[in-house]
Amino acid sequence: MRIYLDHAATTPPDPRVLDAMWSAYTETWGNPSSIYLEGQQANAVLEDARKTCADLLGVSPREIVFTGSGSEGDNAAIRGAAYAQREAGRGDHVITSQIEHHAVLHTVEQLEREGFRATYLPVDADGFVSLEALREAVGEDTALVSIMAANNEVGTVQPIGEISAIVKERNPRTLVHTDAVQAAGAVDIAPAHLGVDFLSIAAHKFYGPKGVGLLYIKNRSRWQPFIHGGAQERERRAGTENLAGIVGLARAMELAWSEADERNRHVQALRDRLLYGLPERIPDTVVTGTQDLDRRLPNNFSCCFRNVEGESVLLALDLAEIAASSGSACTTGSLEPSHVLTAMGIDGDLAHASLRLTLGKSNTDEQVDRVLDVLPGIVERLRSLST
Ligand SMILES: Cc1ncc(COP(=O)(O)O)c(C=O)c1O
Repeated sequence: MRIYLDHAATTPPDPRVLDAMWSAYTETWGNPSSIYLEGQQANAVLEDARKTCADLLGVSPREIVFTGSGSEGDNAAIRGAAYAQREAGRGDHVITSQIEHHAVLHTVEQLEREGFRATYLPVDADGFVSLEALREAVGEDTALVSIMAANNEVGTVQPIGEISAIVKERNPRTLVHTDAVQAAGAVDIAPAHLGVDFLSIAAHKFYGPKGVGLLYIKNRSRWQPFIHGGAQERERRAGTENLAGIVGLARAMELAWSEADERNRHVQALRDRLLYGLPERIPDTVVTGTQDLDRRLPNNFSCCFRNVEGESVLLALDLAEIAASSGSACTTGSLEPSHVLTAMGIDGDLAHASLRLTLGKSNTDEQVDRVLDVLPGIVERLRSLST
């Protein structure tokens, strides 16, 4: 039996989510924009799902735009806010951090090519954004600040409430976006608590379907759409809605929110066994990310091994029936060390030997036992080969 330990990359859809999606596919497959009964029924399901998501986030349904992914939500928030702010004469400066997902980093880099100015805030050795640097960076012309709620590689949970407060105090007209793709389901992401104007999430990170997410846009925020066409989503995102996906997202959110305590307790206990057990069993293991466990995603374990190639560890684990990652799924196969680990001050050689194990609700103690059993041997063997 394979052991799946890469829940930060994606999660297996919950059968209860699939049930809800099946009904949407078979019973309400009409186009929600159509005027006749099938359309009306589909539209009712769509609006019902929107209300479910909005209630769970504590926002108005009008503030929810369904998207096709976490990346799309990030792109839409950042580009839409930056352009709308610039057109309103509110500056052309965008601030983000050095450890964002590429969905944010590459979007901000693209904005730079289009004439915007950007600041990439540094982080400390634990992966926390420097609040001092943030305070200094926000100016009169800062249109937008985008900082992730939790990091996908090392699980650091940023103090977004504090970050928003600093930004608004320095410049009340600056808008704040948070990429909450990894945080959703694990920590409180209610926009009112975080003080943000935009927030993006993706269903497949919490046992929902792939290819669907949502973007929260605070009422009356300056923002403009970047997918044009039909009038769907109140003209904020054209395209016939992925109704079954949206229903799956809403159901996955309901389950994630109502089962959060139980799920967090479960994964945290397993994660802590790795956190304490692996460095004990494998010499020269450097745990990455914060050791302040209240400020770390409950399911994230990440580390680097000295004198081993991370990719070889992953391949050996795969042969041992264990699915793991070196950090972010999107950079697997790339020879560059992780930009997150580099920003945290970890040297290139060590950053190349990174391992991330992210736990999920179906993982068991026996599976963790197996990892604790096989991983030390794998690292030892690889080390002996490389010397
Ligand atoms: C922090 C973060 N942001 C954005 C994304 C992109 O989400 P998606 O794959 O749904 O586009 C990911 C996916 O790994 C992520 O971890």
